Amino acid sequence: MRTWILPLAAGFALNASAEVTFTKEIGPLLHEKCASCHRPGEAGPFSLLTYEDASRKAKTIVRVVEERSMPPWHAVSGQVPFLHDRRLSEDEIKMMAAWVEAGMPRGEGADPVPPRFPEGWTLGEPDIVLTMPEGYPVPAEGSDIYRNFALKLRLPEDKWVKAVELRPSARAVVHHSLFFLDNTGTSLAQDGKDGKPGFKGMGFRRAGSLGGYVPGATVQFLPADYAMAMPKNSDLVLAMHFHPSGKPEIEKSTVGIYLADAPPARDLANLQVPPAFGAGMKINIPPGESNYVVRDSFTVPVDVDALSVAGHAHYLCREMRMTAKIPGGSEIVLLGIDDWDLNWQDRYIFEKPVRLPAGTVVESVLRYDNSAENPNNPFSPPQRVRWGHESTDEMGSITLMVSPAPGQSREVLAEAAKKANFEVLGAIASQPREALTLALARRMKGLDVNGDGAIEAAEIPAIHRQRAMKFDRNADGRLNKEEVQGLLESFRTGEGV
Ligand code: HEC
Repeated sequence: MRTWILPLAAGFALNASAEVTFTKEIGPLLHEKCASCHRPGEAGPFSLLTYEDASRKAKTIVRVVEERSMPPWHAVSGQVPFLHDRRLSEDEIKMMAAWVEAGMPRGEGADPVPPRFPEGWTLGEPDIVLTMPEGYPVPAEGSDIYRNFALKLRLPEDKWVKAVELRPSARAVVHHSLFFLDNTGTSLAQDGKDGKPGFKGMGFRRAGSLGGYVPGATVQFLPADYAMAMPKNSDLVLAMHFHPSGKPEIEKSTVGIYLADAPPARDLANLQVPPAFGAGMKINIPPGESNYVVRDSFTVPVDVDALSVAGHAHYLCREMRMTAKIPGGSEIVLLGIDDWDLNWQDRYIFEKPVRLPAGTVVESVLRYDNSAENPNNPFSPPQRVRWGHESTDEMGSITLMVSPAPGQSREVLAEAAKKANFEVLGAIASQPREALTLALARRMKGLDVNGDGAIEAAEIPAIHRQRAMKFDRNADGRLNKEEVQGLLESFRTGEGV
């Protein structure tokens, strides 16, 4: 049996050549770093709470921690530390390997007691709990499904929200979900109309957004000065993306909403670089191309505090990086991901807000690999991949959540962000396929400028109007959802406008 000498630098025992045991080192480490997901009812496929749990999986554990695929955490250490960093230190990884090599000694004394997690809810009992009245059946096979579910909420007053937790009943198939508010009643009226729970398309006017859910992300409260607005009489809309898992599942989500006691002291804004999930970047990756780069930047017009950062892309993305070039020369890496994995789209929260003075250039660079060497390539052999909503299409952008510094104008910030979005729309307008796909999806309210769920002729860029309006089958001067669907189909089948 090899005895592992604990390194001095690790701050463990200074003199001893100590044996690593479950009771002393490994148990507490698994409880701290793994049990949040590896316990009954959570996202991890098995529990890692007891000696038996750990020794049964010992070899795999060492493999995944050495590869650093577990605990899931993809941001590299930069200059800016993140809150709740899940990474293991080099010493912790060595310690796990040494324990397994030594034959997994249990050690003296009682096993450590697993931490007590709040029953169910990560942040304790929510102020409001909503559950889908009926489960939605997700088939075993087939393409991805986008579907919205309206949950009746209708509070009589405006409220402010500190956190939202989604608890899917079938975690394996929920690829992600966005949370929107609708205070018009449209969503609830549409829900179930086609015979199944929920409704298709984004045919409702958004009164706000409450963030979203991705697997493995840590649910947490917004910092003290911040909250998200929830206008009175709103219903909550879950815009869900399902990815069939090979076996039929029924998804019946429960959502917990945590309210703030008072309106927030400061404003929040999301700066997406590039905007619209990269829709305007003409993403078009030839098969075999291993170094396809998407790059965009945004100049911050006022002093802001950056609070958190999150990337979004699909299978082919390999790396992404967001940097801030501060006027005067210094550069900060806000997010660096060297091994992008679409299953772990965490939002990384800065330990302390990062002040970015007016004039700072925030730049995103994303690299894609569409070669056969990319193990995540969904196509074999590789195929041309363009921007789109299916996970086998690509997207790419990094979102920085910021707050205008005290005394700085949020209007100036909003105006600059709007202008950047507008430039993207302009770029899209020169590309019929993307333009219309985007309009349909209305990720950023697309071309549906007045937000009524249909596309008015006037909302379509002039150069495409005539061709697009050929799909106005009932000749009412606007494209309703079905007509838009027909238009989209014509692109899919290649006979596009
Ligand atoms: C944030 C949630 C989360 C945390 C924290 C986490 N895991 Fe996991 N783990 C998962 C999920 C989910 C899977 C299923 C596979 C996947 O989706 O990557 C998984 C899979 C695994 C597997 C199986 C991998 C395989 O290839 O079969 C092992 C082993 C594992 N985790 C060990 C650990 C260890 C050890 C820790 C702590 C040091 C840890 N995990 C922390 C969520 C987590």
